[in-house]
Formats: sequence, structure tokens, C-alpha cells
Amino acid sequence: MFGQKEKTLNFNLDQSVRLGILGSGKGSNFRALVEFSRSRACFYKPVIVLSDVADAGILKLADQFQISSRFVAPGPFKTKMTEAIEQEIIDHLQQAKVDFIALAGFMRVIKESLLNAFPGRILNIHPSLLPQFPGLAAWQQAHQAKVSETGCTVHLVDKGIDTGKILGQSRVSIFAGDTPETLHTRIQEAEHELYPRMINKFAEQIYRRRENEKN
Ligand code: GRF
Repeated sequence: MFGQKEKTLNFNLDQSVRLGILGSGKGSNFRALVEFSRSRACFYKPVIVLSDVADAGILKLADQFQISSRFVAPGPFKTKMTEAIEQEIIDHLQQAKVDFIALAGFMRVIKESLLNAFPGRILNIHPSLLPQFPGLAAWQQAHQAKVSETGCTVHLVDKGIDTGKILGQSRVSIFAGDTPETLHTRIQEAEHELYPRMINKFAEQIYRRRENEKN
């Protein structure tokens, strides 16, 4: 199907929309994004990974995939960054000519300088059906609340915590025998299917806007 669009748009890989990824953890969503982009014609290309955790799995994965990556020392705070550190991140992303950003398990709040450098172009994946269960360990919150279903949400990042415009969601049932861990595993499986699809859709919109501006 995409092959068809590719033909009519005369798309080639040099025109891919460039994606920067920020993560602090093992990087399973990053892996899903890369595998999706390499297994088919796709509008986005992961070009740089930045992490605030020196030994994060996501940085090792970036090496394996031969994608440029950097550790950015996070500074004195636990959950936020100073303006200087955000600026360092912006500099890396701009040098890599990034068009948009995917947060993939990035455990720090994004503040104004980074939001303003990429307005409306930072996406996140959250392990619940937002607006339910924002914040940390959302699968645990869902399990504890004894709801019958939860899921995952791809949303735009804004100043709030998990409050930005929702772009897509996948539902995950909660079964009687679930532990927080089994539930988390199934949510992550849903994330790995949803996130690349949403990122590709977003990249396609950037691509088409760019093409329209050319004409
Ligand atoms: C994901 O479950 C995502 O929902 C949350 O952080 C987790 C990152 O996991 N924002 P991974 O590093 O992609 O495996």
C-alpha cells in the first residue's frame, strides 16, 4: 500500500523525516521503532538517540543498530533538567537535523526550551489509556484500581505530565490472574505495535506538509 504512495510521491530515503529519540531505559520501544523503519518503506528514519543514563540499554541498542547516540549528563535534579542541559540536548538534535522527537521511556520532564525548539513535534508513549493513570508506573496504578482494561497512549508532549493531545491508543484487557508485571509485559507488546505506526503517521504528515510547501 505504501509502495503505491511511494511511487506517486516519488519518495526516496533521503527525504525521510528525521527522528530523534530520547530514552532512559532498556529501549524496547526504540527497538520497535527501528525494526519497523527497517522492515518496510517508511516515512521516518531514526537518526540519533540521547539518554540521561550513561549505561542505559537504549544506548547499547543504538550502537547495535549503528545509530548515532550520546549520553547527556543529567545535572543535579532527579526528574527535570536545567536550561543548559536542555540546550545541550537541543544542540545535538539540531546538529542531527532532527525533524521530530519520540520520547521512549525518557524519565525527565520536558521544559519550555526544548518544547519551544520543536513546537508540536515531540511525541510520547504512555502505558495507560490517558487521561486515566498519568504519571509513574501506570500499569501498577491500573492493576491496583482493579479496572478491567487499560492500554497505552501516544500523545503530543506539552508542559503538563502526560496531558498533551492524544494521537492514538491501544486497549489491553486485564485478566483475573494478572500481576502488575504480566500486565506491563502485555502493555509493552501493545506499545511496540502502536508507537511505530503513530510515529510513521506523524512523519507522513510532516513529509506531506513539506512537499506542499515546495509546490
Ligand atoms: C514504556 O513502557 C513507556 O510506556 C514508558 O516508558 C517505558 C519505556 O520502556 N513511557 P522501553 O525503554 O521502551 O522498554
